[in-house]
Amino acid sequence: MAFAAEPVSENGRPIGVFDSGLGGLTVARAIACTLPHESIYYLGDTKRCPYGVRTEDEVRTFVLQAGRWLAAHDIKIMIIACNTATAAGLRIAQQMLPVPVIGVIAPGARAAINSTRTRKVGVLATPLTVRTGAYTQAIRALDAGVSVYGCPAPSFVEIVERELATGAHLQERWLQNGDVFDTPEICAEVARTLDPIVASGADVDTVVLGCTHFPLLVGPIRKALGPGVRVVSSAEETTRELTDILQRREQLAGDDVEPQHRFATTSDNIAEFAAAGSFIFGQPLKSIEHVSLEELKEH
Ligand code: DGL
Repeated sequence: MAFAAEPVSENGRPIGVFDSGLGGLTVARAIACTLPHESIYYLGDTKRCPYGVRTEDEVRTFVLQAGRWLAAHDIKIMIIACNTATAAGLRIAQQMLPVPVIGVIAPGARAAINSTRTRKVGVLATPLTVRTGAYTQAIRALDAGVSVYGCPAPSFVEIVERELATGAHLQERWLQNGDVFDTPEICAEVARTLDPIVASGADVDTVVLGCTHFPLLVGPIRKALGPGVRVVSSAEETTRELTDILQRREQLAGDDVEPQHRFATTSDNIAEFAAAGSFIFGQPLKSIEHVSLEELKEH
């Protein structure tokens, strides 16, 4: 005899989380830790990653496709867990989608403002995120006197995705271990990229990781910046904002709800996504599906 699946309660509906690939799992992990009864429906557009070297128009289109796909899967709210996609597409997604949408840039800006004492902040992000000026605007909206130094890092997303794909550096508790990607080649590339901030003499005391892939490179980044500079990211602040919104909307899942996390990727290599994704998410990705670009484009 077949049993019908139990209907999901209104508040038990998942939180949709979207990224260009694996990086957004750093945010999904923070959400799962802070809100253990919430279900997550994660979509990683791995096939079209990296977004940071594309045009704003292209990324905006991808954000809307992903948002419509997630909305069709009955999410209660969408997190754009990608700074590049937030910079290009948050506003249009908020206008067009039938669910509330939050991004990671305003939370990242808040984390930077809470940290800086010199009121000089570096923003390490993809070229597109830096180009849009979205971080500068978000930081200045909170404190107009803060100087913002944008530092584009064109190679970091590919380094992270490549290193994760090889599996060579996977360690169980990477968040506690900044040395996971600490190879001489990667450290040299990170130091080269950060040199404009380090050599500027600008008294930057805080660098915000303006890309959700970059927490995976936090060891080499800290090493390049030296001990006087704090490194902050948006994951915790984003989770705080998400919690506030769900509380206000009375949409938090009840304490009796067992979370069901689901993952979808446009990658053709599910095994690779599963291995690297489990490592970043901090628990096995049990349910992974492949979504074709054709299916996404229908949305
Ligand atoms: N995790 C994305 C971000 O936060 C990476 C962007 C990319 O795909 O280049 O910007």
